[in-house]
Amino acid sequence: MRRRLAISYVLLLVLVLAALEVPLAIALLDLPRGARVLELGCGPGATLSALGSLLAPTRLVGVDTDPSLISIARERLPDVELVVADARALPFDDASFDVVVDFGTCYHIARAGDALAEAARVLVPGGSFVTETKLNQTISHPWRSLGRSLPWSAAPTLRPQDRTLMWERRVKSAEAPSLRTIADLALLPLVHGGTWHLRPGRLVYAADTLAVLARRLYASRHGSTARGRDRRPR
Ligand SMILES: C[S@@+](CC[C@H](N)C(=O)[O-])C[C@H]1O[C@@H](n2cnc3c(N)ncnc32)[C@H](O)[C@@H]1O
Repeated sequence: MRRRLAISYVLLLVLVLAALEVPLAIALLDLPRGARVLELGCGPGATLSALGSLLAPTRLVGVDTDPSLISIARERLPDVELVVADARALPFDDASFDVVVDFGTCYHIARAGDALAEAARVLVPGGSFVTETKLNQTISHPWRSLGRSLPWSAAPTLRPQDRTLMWERRVKSAEAPSLRTIADLALLPLVHGGTWHLRPGRLVYAADTLAVLARRLYASRHGSTARGRDRRPR
């Protein structure tokens, strides 16, 4: 019975993550193909299988603290590197990945700042950290995520780049931001149609998904990306 439940859970995850969520996130955030990709908290590997087929990574690694989930993932994905490890103490060299994906793990662990700092450490400068937005967390875990947010100050080199309704991409810069950059970044969403946070309530208006799609359309028509010109990491 427990095995059947576990299998149904994995199938449901595969359906939702592989068929809908991951493809949409990849398309909206323009993630690179042929990169070295790490997923934090990979669970049974539903996201990893979608990342593998959609991004054709040169290296694909998943870490999770739960050995039983890692063994399910190993059975399903023999070509993926699967490691029992804590996202807050990653067993990888500095600058060894181009993309680090976190679909909800950092939101729910203690000392999430350590995991963000580790993600920044293992990313190459210019590499992408992909995570879920507060809105995404509020929809998927309304109670658990109440009052929680990611402690970005623990990873000052991860600078906001693209924000859609449900996912966010930060890019690792070589240095921590200066005061001027922080001021610029605060204005960036207003200028470029990013998600607007109404503080202090943190209500989210999301004109941004439309803005990202419009930029994509513009880029496909004109052969250059508005994002490439306007939203380069500083
Ligand atoms: C929301 S699930 C992610 C599901 C996964 N994305 C998938 O495709 O199936 C979060 C995962 O994070 C793992 N986890 C919890 N704390 C962790 C930590 N400190 N380091 C790494 N993984 C952790 C859990 O075991 C769980 O599998």
